[in-house]
Amino acid sequence: SNGAQKTPLTLAFEAVQGSLTDAVVVPEGYVAQVLVPWGTPLSTGDSWQSDQPMTAERQASSVGMNHDGMAGFALDADNASRRFVLVLNNEYIDQAALWAPQGGPTNTSEGKRPAEESRTEINAHGVTIVEVEKDTNGHWSHVPGSRYNRRLTSATVMEMAGPVAGSDYVKTRFSPAGTQTRGTNNNCGNGLTPWGTYIACEENWPNVFVNHGQLFQDDARIGIPTDKSRYGWDTSAGDASEESDEFARFDITPRGERAEDDYRNEARTFGYQVEVDPYSDAHAVKRTALGRFRHEGCWLGKLEAGQPVVYYSGHDSRNEYVYKYVSDAAWDPADANRPGEAYDRLAIGSKYLDNGTLYVARFNADGSGEWLPLTPSAQTRDGRSLATALGLAENDLAGVIINTCDAADLMGATPMDRPEWATVDPSSGEVYLTLTNNSKRSEEAAAATFTNQGDDIAQLGVGYETAPANAVNPRANNEAGHIIRWRESRLPNAFRWEVFVFGAATNDEGNHSGLTEMNQFASPDGLWFDQRDDGQGILWIQTDNGYEGITEYTNDQLLAVVPNSLDEIQGTGPVINNSNQQQLKRFAVGPNGCEVTGIFATPDKTALFINIQHPGNWPADGSALTQDATAETSGQVRPRASTVVIQKRDGGPVGV
Ligand code: FEO
Ligand code: CA
Ligand code: CA
Ligand code: CA
Repeated sequence: SNGAQKTPLTLAFEAVQGSLTDAVVVPEGYVAQVLVPWGTPLSTGDSWQSDQPMTAERQASSVGMNHDGMAGFALDADNASRRFVLVLNNEYIDQAALWAPQGGPTNTSEGKRPAEESRTEINAHGVTIVEVEKDTNGHWSHVPGSRYNRRLTSATVMEMAGPVAGSDYVKTRFSPAGTQTRGTNNNCGNGLTPWGTYIACEENWPNVFVNHGQLFQDDARIGIPTDKSRYGWDTSAGDASEESDEFARFDITPRGERAEDDYRNEARTFGYQVEVDPYSDAHAVKRTALGRFRHEGCWLGKLEAGQPVVYYSGHDSRNEYVYKYVSDAAWDPADANRPGEAYDRLAIGSKYLDNGTLYVARFNADGSGEWLPLTPSAQTRDGRSLATALGLAENDLAGVIINTCDAADLMGATPMDRPEWATVDPSSGEVYLTLTNNSKRSEEAAAATFTNQGDDIAQLGVGYETAPANAVNPRANNEAGHIIRWRESRLPNAFRWEVFVFGAATNDEGNHSGLTEMNQFASPDGLWFDQRDDGQGILWIQTDNGYEGITEYTNDQLLAVVPNSLDEIQGTGPVINNSNQQQLKRFAVGPNGCEVTGIFATPDKTALFINIQHPGNWPADGSALTQDATAETSGQVRPRASTVVIQKRDGGPVGV
């Protein structure tokens, strides 16, 4: 609103062209280095060898695979831009790279996975916590043996908290009280709390399980496989010395009389926001109040003293929804993180994240929007209570959360083009959200197949298989994706939204935002509002693209734009090509085969950290711990997902 007094923030780098190489491309005047690639030992006295077979034991104390969301946690405020704890998600595994020296994955003669292989794969998933530091030459490295270094895997014991904890829905053989579970899976984007903890978000977890028998309603809705699990961990025989359900827990087929006798509820301990204290070795906590689905990420809304703490999250599947969590407790700035001090941050997490209300979004064609509450007594589209419509007992909040997706269907939420990351401008509170693409959207409303409107609970089940194009998802075959933004209204549970930019190739008929060679992109995924001076900021956009119009021109990329001011938001429609903002510019391009994801900068903005996930043939020197990320690979290497640090040669702030 006081834009006239501000010095406009300007993107000072020269946009880079598209690239199709085994290297990271950055603008003139910048350098990029590899940091903590997959397999980097976290302890002292061990080193990565590219021809060395990975083992379960080694993987349990080494950086996990396929880096995704991440964040940095200061150890002391004065050195926060030189030394911190890096926490990063290891979303899934590249089996070809994991088993490269000996070949694999393999099966026994009975068609089962060898236990050691399953254990290794389980340990390659999860979260990596590692101290990193910058030397006087500006070179970053990890700190082997740091007391902060640790791994969370798909086998690590975790606590259940919030409305679902202790309910019958999550009582298992492992935890008859329903208060614990093992492992976090397929952690994609991430969240950050103002009290100094990390949130790992469970996204594509359903297919690590299998159910050969009677499915629960929520198993069917979320897509638990009925033939086989993704990696076949459930087929491995547990070690006699280990707990007998080390692997059998991934097969949730009901077997016994009681839930506590088998693993039928095991999958109900997944699909949550998982809070991790990077400063201690406390168990991670699954915060069930924030809903159960395929959480892409967890994005803090505008933080104000005396107001609730708000988190946004999208369910990344075709025609799924956008959610908002609002805490009961009001934010107390006395709870803000005190870097390096030892105290119980997860108790503060419990205060804000275990009691609150979950909402799902409806986007109206006039640019207005509504947050629909997912509470047992909320009234559904057909006038019943949500609990009744779901076939639950009155006041069964745990049941509503277990069935979050069906609850959202019943309330009339708007099916979206695969919500991926969001980010919030911390001064205005405006929220940006990527809608990465959607091949299951039709022109005609009549083509919608919505199966979720009968009285019979058995008719609940798949949400929208296809959905008609609508105002906020206006393209019928949205291969290139788009980014929307909204701001909360003063009215309760209301917001205004608009399309911010449409992905496209320059020659596309649907190039509504007037993209050019130097900023054409498709399938936006990662997103970060990087606040700079005067309340202005850079919106960083990362891609995970399969749209041919762009893949033939460039690998996945990182773009930047200084968004125009809020005052200019009026109703709907593309705004990026007709405003006074800086034009969108391509900042970096990743190596062949990768997606570009995960992003934050040091507090002084001199180092930008990104992740290169599932590269095909990179980094160049697979045996080195750190090296030049911009070096092209010669020959075939064992590929390693990795963090990349981008800095200016002159040591100044990145992007400007
Ligand atoms: Fe793991 Fe939706 O990206
Ligand atoms: Ca993603
Ligand atoms: Ca994606
Ligand atoms: Ca991914």
